[in-house]
Amino acid sequence: MKDDNFLKENNARHLWHPMGHPADSLENPPTIIKGADGSHITDIDGRRVVDAVGGLWCVNLGYSNDVVKEAIAKQLYDLPYYSAFAGSTNPTAIEASYAVRDFFAEDGMARCFFTSGGSDSVETTLRLARQYHRLRGEPTRTKFLSLKKGYHGTHFGGASVNGNNRFRINYEPLLPGCYHLPSPYTYRNPFNETDPAKLAQFIAQAMEDEIAFQGANTIAAFIMEPIQGAGGVIVPGETFMPLMRDICDRHGILMISDEVITGFGRTGDWTGARHWGVKPDMMSTAKGITSGYFPVGAALMSEKVADVFESDTTGEGAIYHGYTYSAHPVGAAAVTACISETLRLDTKTNAAARGKQLYEGVLKLAEKHDIIGDVRGGHGLMTGIEIVSDKAAKTPMDMATMKGIHKTTYEAGAMVRLGAHNVLMSPPLTITEGEVQTILDALDAGFSTV
Ligand SMILES: Cc1ncc(COP(=O)(O)O)c(C=O)c1O
Repeated sequence: MKDDNFLKENNARHLWHPMGHPADSLENPPTIIKGADGSHITDIDGRRVVDAVGGLWCVNLGYSNDVVKEAIAKQLYDLPYYSAFAGSTNPTAIEASYAVRDFFAEDGMARCFFTSGGSDSVETTLRLARQYHRLRGEPTRTKFLSLKKGYHGTHFGGASVNGNNRFRINYEPLLPGCYHLPSPYTYRNPFNETDPAKLAQFIAQAMEDEIAFQGANTIAAFIMEPIQGAGGVIVPGETFMPLMRDICDRHGILMISDEVITGFGRTGDWTGARHWGVKPDMMSTAKGITSGYFPVGAALMSEKVADVFESDTTGEGAIYHGYTYSAHPVGAAAVTACISETLRLDTKTNAAARGKQLYEGVLKLAEKHDIIGDVRGGHGLMTGIEIVSDKAAKTPMDMATMKGIHKTTYEAGAMVRLGAHNVLMSPPLTITEGEVQTILDALDAGFSTV
């Protein structure tokens, strides 16, 4: 490894960073994270802070899980790669598919299709949803419904169902036939409704109207996150996802639960859909499936969907979709080890307890800091804080101030993430009580600078 001076001099000079402006990265070089342990990260200058971001909503087991690390290292020596395209497979892929199926059995998931990450998993569910309807003899079902504020990755399909125009405008035209419903966002919504149950009813009506307008027989699937993550940690009321499920059922529309963040314990249950008592038809997963230690995702299909493919005798059920790294042996080894560690450590239980502590702690901070407009969370370790410059007018805080809050919070001991004027947190599910307190103290310091 080159020395620190070399690293600093070359920081962002040859690398374009996702979700960043290349010119801005050159002017304000990104923080170089050199090491990590437990729930902490250490930067190139030796500053060690609690990682309230969990890498990128993904390091669910923290940074020190040797079981997963050893499984990865061993597999690199046994078989570093072999293709899983039809005709060949590998032992760890078979084992991982068994572990994944078992983990999601209670959600009604019966088959998995491995990918290289969340965007791939979303793309897989969207494409297979269309193929499912063709196989059933309804090829007109090609459209997709989704929610505003939703984040479904950056492939063209995912960006098309994405509900935030920042991820869309520069890349248009996107996929035709994608329609967006209001988000269950009580702080701001077109109905001025603050009651989650009433808001859910308004959105359900909007969905019924859109389906009637488009024609149910043109709609393939509805995709949603059980708790919207990147859009600002938007937690729907309890009735919301069941209502959406019911509408999908009545109109023959597949329901895809995008569990890239919410899967594997983050919400305090093993999946977000289970948290709301819903069984979707398909799920997209990634992140916590390997705790971020290796890039893997998985699209999951219910028995209902699987049956249509597996009973096809025309040949049209062949899946002409997939990735060189689908069912990668090293990734698969990481998946099996990670699922086994996730269950052994029962990370969902700690996520629920520490999530409550973090949420309640931030609510207390909101009593002290007027710039906190809205606090969202309370369901596991996903917490969002919406920062405003005028509480009555709900004016979003300017980005220069947000960056100042971020910097001070970091210097006071915690890395948080900014999503526009929101502070977003998703620490490792293994985080301790003391570490959550460190995050709260650091936030207090960050907010105090404004
Ligand atoms: C809900 C959701 N879906 C899809 C994605 C895309 O995943 P990836 O960045 O691994 O492609 C993300 C990423 O944060 C996500 O939060």
